[in-house]
Amino acid sequence: MLSSTMILQFILALAAVCLAAPQYLHLAPRVIVPQSHYEVLRMRASTTVDPSAVTGVNNIVFHDLNVAELGICGGIAGKITKCGGAPATTTGQSGTALFKLNAVNSGATINISKGRWEQCIRAARAVCPTGSMSGTCIGGASAGNVAFTLGNP
Ligand SMILES: *[C@@H]1O[C@H](CO)[C@@H](O)[C@H](O)[C@H]1NC(C)=O
Repeated sequence: MLSSTMILQFILALAAVCLAAPQYLHLAPRVIVPQSHYEVLRMRASTTVDPSAVTGVNNIVFHDLNVAELGICGGIAGKITKCGGAPATTTGQSGTALFKLNAVNSGATINISKGRWEQCIRAARAVCPTGSMSGTCIGGASAGNVAFTLGNP
């Protein structure tokens, strides 16, 4: 039997978009990994990398990500269990990581619980293992869903 968590992850997975690799995923009606994905993997495996050949590459540091995740709504770390203050939009930032959230329904405010927010980001990370991403957390607002993006500040 499917738990509500699994259903949530499934729905979120369909809504998540990996900004770092948009060409890899076609999200509707289900996730399809095209041939080019395997070609890219093969290319990476068979070519050497010269780090000096690129500049300005943005990366999101894992530690920054975790801090930024708990930085939404003025901070939800520690004993705080939900987004307070009923904002329509909020951000969470630390170093290389910036989350931007907005209630999808106009007039709605964000009151997402910490558990739901962490669950949402975990599910999105399952689809987009690294880098920037965007998606929609199911629920988490006074009405409707909460859209998010993760990128560099
Ligand atoms: C958010 O608001 C909705 C609508 O008022 C409510 O049903 C829900 O329980 C609230 N969620 C949290 C975590 O407070």
